[in-house]
Amino acid sequence: MNQIATAVLTEYTSRFTSKPRLFYSPGRINLIGEHIDYNSGYVMPAAINKGIYYAIAANNTNNINFYSLDFTEAYSTTVNSFEKKEGWKNYLLSVLKEFEMLPKSIGGFDCVFGGDIPVGSGMSSSAAVEGGLAFAVNNIFNLQLNRKELALLCQRAEHNYPNVKCGIMDMYASLNGKQGNVILLDCDKVTHEYFPFDFADYQIVLINSKVQHSLASGEYNIRRNNCETGLAVLKQEPGIFTFRDIKSVEIVDRYKNELSADVYNCCKYVVEEINRTQQAGALLKQQNIEAFGKLMFETHEGLSRLYKVSCAELDFLTAQAKANPNVVGARLMGGGFGGCTINIIHKNFVGDAAASIGKAYQQQFNIAPEVYFVEICDGTNELINTV
Ligand code: GLA
Repeated sequence: MNQIATAVLTEYTSRFTSKPRLFYSPGRINLIGEHIDYNSGYVMPAAINKGIYYAIAANNTNNINFYSLDFTEAYSTTVNSFEKKEGWKNYLLSVLKEFEMLPKSIGGFDCVFGGDIPVGSGMSSSAAVEGGLAFAVNNIFNLQLNRKELALLCQRAEHNYPNVKCGIMDMYASLNGKQGNVILLDCDKVTHEYFPFDFADYQIVLINSKVQHSLASGEYNIRRNNCETGLAVLKQEPGIFTFRDIKSVEIVDRYKNELSADVYNCCKYVVEEINRTQQAGALLKQQNIEAFGKLMFETHEGLSRLYKVSCAELDFLTAQAKANPNVVGARLMGGGFGGCTINIIHKNFVGDAAASIGKAYQQQFNIAPEVYFVEICDGTNELINTV
């Protein structure tokens, strides 16, 4: 068994007497389609081999006892007395609050959790934490919510106590991942199709700038507001109801005088990114990884210059990748302002390419980046049932 899973179970046994069930909830990557999950776009995420483990069991009381292995901190509360707290607790309590609002009841439980998704890395540790707890609670109390319902519940939860008005991508991808497949998620209908990511010659590599981002800092919600403000204006155009209906930037240009510069730039980016994602889906099906990679570089340009969610460190990592002939595509991944770039690198040269990008980065910023060779895995699941 994986080291973290063993540590979580050992900690559980030292604190509680019941026999826990063990669940795994992965982080996610996103190949393309950034900041358009809350703008009626399509996105292309996948669950990965980094995640959060939950050891958990009902305790037949009204007490809920958490222990976070990563923060080495315990927290206890009681059923139906959830309120906003600080830090990691909010992600859990907000999920429980959502369960409380359903016509289904949960009881007390004991829970130890821990994982290996670096916080603020853009791999969505928050969605993995929320989705893992939601999935586990759904199982131990036999509440019968399906994965889509759980993803929507987690999205509402993240909007509430953590106050990040996120889209559906992260929790949906974490809950619905499938080994070897990317998820083409229609964020309007909240439906998906899988398609295989089987490029034997290429490796997905994440390079962590180690610059921390916090979506809770408010910049994320500002981008979302800009898009809503812009769409309200663009809806004057006949036949436009969502960003998906805007097929070309010319329509955004038509209303330029009615939009502030920030709002105009956000809208332009969103329209271009929705187009790119549609092209990207076709290219993946044709196995055209080179053309796909070019779109990733374009996405980065848009995120940096128009959407303005990049930073010097991510721009540098992407520029280094672009200059390397063995990297077919790279860009910042996730909310932005720090965290990882996602890179598609030829397998024969992957070690050298990642090392040379990392070395240049260290020289420039005096920060040693972390490099992760990512595998695409199944979504949230129960690993063992020790009951
Ligand atoms: C964060 C959010 C997602 C999505 C991405 C950007 O990860 O949680 O909903 O908007 O940023 O694509």
